[in-house]
Amino acid sequence: MSEAVYPVPAEIAARAHVDAARYQEMYQRSVTDPEGFWGEHGKRIDWIKPYARVKNTSYDPHNVAIKWFEDGTLNVSANCVDRHLATRGDQAAIIWEGDDPNEHKVITYKELHREVNKFANVLHACGVKKGDRVTIYLPMIPEAAYAMLACARVGAVHSIVFGGFSPDSLAQRVVDCESKVIVTADEGLRGGRRVPLKANVDKAIEKIAVDKVIVVQRTGGDVAMSDGRDVWYHEEADRVSDHCAPVEMNAEDPLFILYTSGSTGKPKGVLHTSGGYLVYASMTHEYVFDYQQGDVYWCTADVGWVTGHSYIVYGPLANGATTLMFEGIPTYPSPARFWEVIDKHKVNIFYTAPTAIRSLMGAGTEHVKKTSRKSLRILGSVGEPINPEAWTWYHENVGDGRCPIVDTWWQTETGGILITPLPGATPLKPGSATRPFFGVQPALVDAEGKLLEGAAEGNLVLLDSWPGQMRTVYGDHERFVQTYFSTYHGMYFTGDGCRRDADGYYWITGRVDDVINVSGHRMGTAEVESALVAHPKVSEAAVVGYPHDLKGQGIYVYVTLMAGEAPTEDLRKELRDWVRKEIGPIASPDLIQFAPGLPKTRSGKIMRRILRKIAEDSFDNLGDTSTLADPAVIDDLIENRQNKH
Ligand code: WT7
Repeated sequence: MSEAVYPVPAEIAARAHVDAARYQEMYQRSVTDPEGFWGEHGKRIDWIKPYARVKNTSYDPHNVAIKWFEDGTLNVSANCVDRHLATRGDQAAIIWEGDDPNEHKVITYKELHREVNKFANVLHACGVKKGDRVTIYLPMIPEAAYAMLACARVGAVHSIVFGGFSPDSLAQRVVDCESKVIVTADEGLRGGRRVPLKANVDKAIEKIAVDKVIVVQRTGGDVAMSDGRDVWYHEEADRVSDHCAPVEMNAEDPLFILYTSGSTGKPKGVLHTSGGYLVYASMTHEYVFDYQQGDVYWCTADVGWVTGHSYIVYGPLANGATTLMFEGIPTYPSPARFWEVIDKHKVNIFYTAPTAIRSLMGAGTEHVKKTSRKSLRILGSVGEPINPEAWTWYHENVGDGRCPIVDTWWQTETGGILITPLPGATPLKPGSATRPFFGVQPALVDAEGKLLEGAAEGNLVLLDSWPGQMRTVYGDHERFVQTYFSTYHGMYFTGDGCRRDADGYYWITGRVDDVINVSGHRMGTAEVESALVAHPKVSEAAVVGYPHDLKGQGIYVYVTLMAGEAPTEDLRKELRDWVRKEIGPIASPDLIQFAPGLPKTRSGKIMRRILRKIAEDSFDNLGDTSTLADPAVIDDLIENRQNKH
């Protein structure tokens, strides 16, 4: 069987930052001499006090410690804003495209500077000091970028909570990092619908203590303002000066916390620091997307996810790029929206997720074909494995066969892209994230932790640190060590399965832990289960992923009801609404099966392997069921499965 290989187009190679030979040379140096390599590339950003030490990292489970450029000082907002004023003050820093196609705004670097300084002074006026945590719960409006950069300017640590999370999820995250200040908006606007952000904040903080809520006016919708606690951003901004000196920060001072789901427990606060993170985000942004002066770059993610942090805000702005920020959704007002925005703003580089590609593919190629898209040069994909059908459709129809697709594998924890093609260097294979970025040493291990050589399939680990790596779980270093460094001694465990082919290309096969990936969003099955068992009619719940045509994986729920409760359609709806309310719409179960009993071992452990198979509708070979406490439950589970083909 021959697999398709797409060579690097000659016109791309001719102008790209690196070609195949240069990639090899740089990669070799990056892994044989990381000190020298990063010592040099660390200079791509401006330091207040230059670093003398480059790398000081240990994966020893008794002493996990990760430090990069540890004696250097800098300010991240000065790097993303101030340093561009002299050379490109009048260039667009952010092109903001509203939910409504008639609304857009261009923010130059000069304007960005003014806005970030004002926002920083508003934070100061609200009592925010260096080291304080600030929770940001905003829609995709320029103020989200201003707020992030303003935190960085005053040395505060931001924690962005995606606007689709429920009041409970928001509260949990505010409490965990002890933020005293929340930045939100009256309402968000997505696909013509209003999202009640301020009302959600009000609900979230009913039971917790917060000093200030800063409210940005977006829709003008009616919201409650609590005296002394809630302030309107525009009123405060009118009162403050537009100058705020950037605070000198150590390279290892925290920049942000971002919560992400794992296989157990509540979401973890992934902590990223300043120097190494910025070096890595800016370097990957330049090389992976082959960003060139004057390019218009668009990443369709939300700033509530790490992709928005690294590839809408920090990476592009550190590079003095023009970054497009989109408030809306791919299908509003029609499934041609993405392609129309590309033509409207002459986008050169476009970075989106497989789930969006699949849904737009389903909406019909005619929506693409009626637009020009001739400005496009590079396409990108992120969030989950991209199936070859979607890859080919994206390549043929969106890119007219001209534009390389960079399938970028990375994680919230990694801060930036780790496995990816480089447009001018890497022949592409649809569905493969291809090869490691500079300084990244992927490896495959078997269940015992034995390193696998050559073409092989196993669990994906990383053998050494890179500057963008997370430093700890906020407030719980032990959990950091346990989660990532205790499965395989001396290695960072990614949680992903992966295959390496004979050409050394990596093919991510998906999570091997109890994490599922729904439309590119990471979900811990344990979180959904704990939401379900909090419902008074539910006695037990088990959640697994199953293959879903659009979402990649769907959420399949097995519930055992309390004695006397009847399994009805109404109850199905009630449980679905309950999970949406508890966690947020992104956790909404796709299929719910009422199960009188769950398959358990004699020691009471749920055998998820069996539940996964039944959810996939492939139960012919359930494997060994002899250890089940009550094998009879299986027949009922199969009989009443919800995903019959
Ligand atoms: C998990 C990380 C990184 C930003 C978005 C998601 C999966 C991510 C790819 C890709 C195959 C991918 C992995 C990873 N994933 N990108 N290109 N190919 N799988 O960040 O929420 O931290 O999720 O997403 O399973 O572990 P995240």
